[in-house]
Amino acid sequence: MKDMGLATVTEAVAQSFAGLPDARQRELVQCLVKALHQYARDVQLTHTEWRAALTFLHKVGDISSDSRSEFSLLSDVLGLSSLVDLLASDPAVTPGSVLGPFHTPGSPWLSNPADLTGANAGQRVLLRARVCDSAGQALPGASIDFWQNAANGLYWQVDLSQPTDNLRCQLKVGADGCCEIATIRAVPYEIPTDGPAWLDLVEPAGRSAWRPAHFHVIVSASGYRTLVTEIFDAEDPYLDSDAVFGVREALVGRYQNVADPEACARLGLPGEKVPVMSFEIRLAPL
Ligand SMILES: [Fe+2]
Repeated sequence: MKDMGLATVTEAVAQSFAGLPDARQRELVQCLVKALHQYARDVQLTHTEWRAALTFLHKVGDISSDSRSEFSLLSDVLGLSSLVDLLASDPAVTPGSVLGPFHTPGSPWLSNPADLTGANAGQRVLLRARVCDSAGQALPGASIDFWQNAANGLYWQVDLSQPTDNLRCQLKVGADGCCEIATIRAVPYEIPTDGPAWLDLVEPAGRSAWRPAHFHVIVSASGYRTLVTEIFDAEDPYLDSDAVFGVREALVGRYQNVADPEACARLGLPGEKVPVMSFEIRLAPL
């Protein structure tokens, strides 16, 4: 008979998973058991509190669907998504940031320079990116998967008024590692506020629902680690209170009014100046 007590139960449960054949999975599960047990001990978890937590998780599952993961949002607002990004980041290169729920594969390939403006409302801007290695050497073979929200704050997948694939594309950088995307200025938006992550957890804490304006990119190049990150707008009022903790100083870009008559003519902009945000993406080797 195993006599389970406070002094023995945690180790007994951890050991019960010793038969997991995959060493990494075994480590993940056994450490999780120990961390959960330690948490319960630290806060002296009561039955009432434990049942309330399970009810909360039930609600998180109930509102989730193929097109919505409240668990992902929960991970985001708890900062766990951001922590995993930071753990995976190499300090010598551009840091990663939250993937978010609005990336789907199959974005249309456009040639460089790309123009995403279409019929979108919003301020017309130019993004100029340069992809390089940790030493600043250009990576001509790199490609960028890009997506952003529209002037109403919504991504095309959740807004029937937008055309399919609005404000997203994939493109290859040029021989100099550079690419240019004409688009509209991204705007801040709120995380979903109709589910338990917001209603039961974040709102009662008095936190903000807003994410500062950002562009999403996935940057990849042969021989280098693929980078999932975001580029933020230095003038955004929510930079210091991102609901999902994604902002890093190295990811904040600032628009400069640049005299570029050729670009203005190409984009049909009045005058000779256009707001340009230039940023460099440094990738780590595999
Ligand atoms: Fe986003």
